[in-house]
Amino acid sequence: MTGTITVAIDGPAAAGKGTISKAVAAYFGFAHLDTGLLYRAVGAKVLDGVAPLEAAQALEAADLDRDDLRTPDVAQAASRVAVLPEVRAALLDFQHAFARRAGGAVLDGRDIGTVICPEAEVKLFVTASPEIRAERRFLELEANGHDVMREEVLADVVGRDDRDMNRVDAPLKPAVDAVVLDTSDLSIDAAVAAAVARVQVVLDQRG
Ligand code: C5P
Repeated sequence: MTGTITVAIDGPAAAGKGTISKAVAAYFGFAHLDTGLLYRAVGAKVLDGVAPLEAAQALEAADLDRDDLRTPDVAQAASRVAVLPEVRAALLDFQHAFARRAGGAVLDGRDIGTVICPEAEVKLFVTASPEIRAERRFLELEANGHDVMREEVLADVVGRDDRDMNRVDAPLKPAVDAVVLDTSDLSIDAAVAAAVARVQVVLDQRG
């Protein structure tokens, strides 16, 4: 079994992080944590009327199974609670423990390579143009039965990127030692292959 290895995959909304992370985790047999779901679960509770810090401190596994977490409203609520340092701090221990679990872990989010796991052995920053990301998210939402308009999805993606990049605490940016993977002109298979190859290089170097 692989020892501890952390793969940090960061990037803006709908860049393909989730798909790539799941595929990398499945390929190597690593565990996968979509850290965006933590912020979405807190955001959803805040929309229910719970205070942000209370929602973050009381987060339970079942909260991550809510079926409204992928909606644009919850995405916006997530990025609003994500600017609060006390909310980010409350979610820190869980992410740290997950990252260092035996057998390898892939975490995807916005600040994994910069703040949560600066020591991660592999860091990828997955990005694509806003229009392409919005189109992908639009098709995904539509396929899941959500009644959304293209312009709304683009506005959501651009608005969240702006808030995520310009917040004071843990802003979205590539770690200095991250490999940038622009998926604008890549198929899913090609993007996954590039990510897998990067992890393999690091595993091979460790011998
Ligand atoms: O990745 P996803 O789109 O599900 O993330 C929802 C929101 O959660 C992001 O727009 C961002 O504000 C926040 N987030 C974060 N840090 C992470 C993961 C997500 O601030 N590591």
